[in-house]
Amino acid sequence: MAFIESFITPEEDALNEEFLEKGYVIKDVDCPDVLYAMRHMILEVACELLEVDLPDDETDFLNLIHEMVDISELNGFRLAIYNKVNEQTWFRPTYFRLGRNLTEKLVGNELAMQNQVNLSIQMPNDNSSLIGIHSDAFSGETPFQIVQWVPLVDAYDTKSMFLLPPENNRRIFPQIRQIVEDGNMDLLFEEVKDQVVWLTVPYGKVLIFSPNLLHGNVVNQEKRTRWSLNCRFTGLFTPYTSCEKSLGGFYLPITTRIVSRVGMNYQTPKGFDE
Ligand SMILES: [Fe+2]
Repeated sequence: MAFIESFITPEEDALNEEFLEKGYVIKDVDCPDVLYAMRHMILEVACELLEVDLPDDETDFLNLIHEMVDISELNGFRLAIYNKVNEQTWFRPTYFRLGRNLTEKLVGNELAMQNQVNLSIQMPNDNSSLIGIHSDAFSGETPFQIVQWVPLVDAYDTKSMFLLPPENNRRIFPQIRQIVEDGNMDLLFEEVKDQVVWLTVPYGKVLIFSPNLLHGNVVNQEKRTRWSLNCRFTGLFTPYTSCEKSLGGFYLPITTRIVSRVGMNYQTPKGFDE
């Protein structure tokens, strides 16, 4: 019998290396049928709002939604779908299931999850719903988290999102304050736009990335609309860096293990607590 020399399996080690080097991984979702069912449900809500019949080609319908919804109505339309789907008790557990194997390997098996799953709809030539370059940690989110990002249609080039690789982040971080002295983050994007990676994420894949790295999007210059979902996961017992974005509010425990619960409820008898 061979002894085991490492606590980490070769498969986990390879995944860790890939994440560390690139800042992200893109893999197949754990269960394509579940993704399809989620997308179908979102589509049903959208059709109900628009008072149209369900389409034969769901991919085309989503890709070409800009032919049916005006940019001026987009945010209201998106929020109506977001609210409706997040009302469903199954929505977050089902979303978690799409990337559970990866998330557990990268983050841990005792997790907290953001309290809502975000929905993004990026129409061609729409500059009203952009998320400019930023790091999530700049707004008080824990740096111990990942984002699970799942497109409902193929995402590529400007229809997708960009990420600045870890090595480039390490170079630019000490200079950020100087570059955006007047608070204009666009200057930062100008500085790094030739170094960012545009993530190609076909439908059926899940992207997991570190939102500590600079990322964002620009005006979608492709001919089709991007629909994507995203949500944050962090280890249950990792530090939380702001009151606003802390455990119990922004993040909720989802896979607390029984021994942790036992430990949290343990009370030392008087006389043994010193
Ligand atoms: Fe972000």
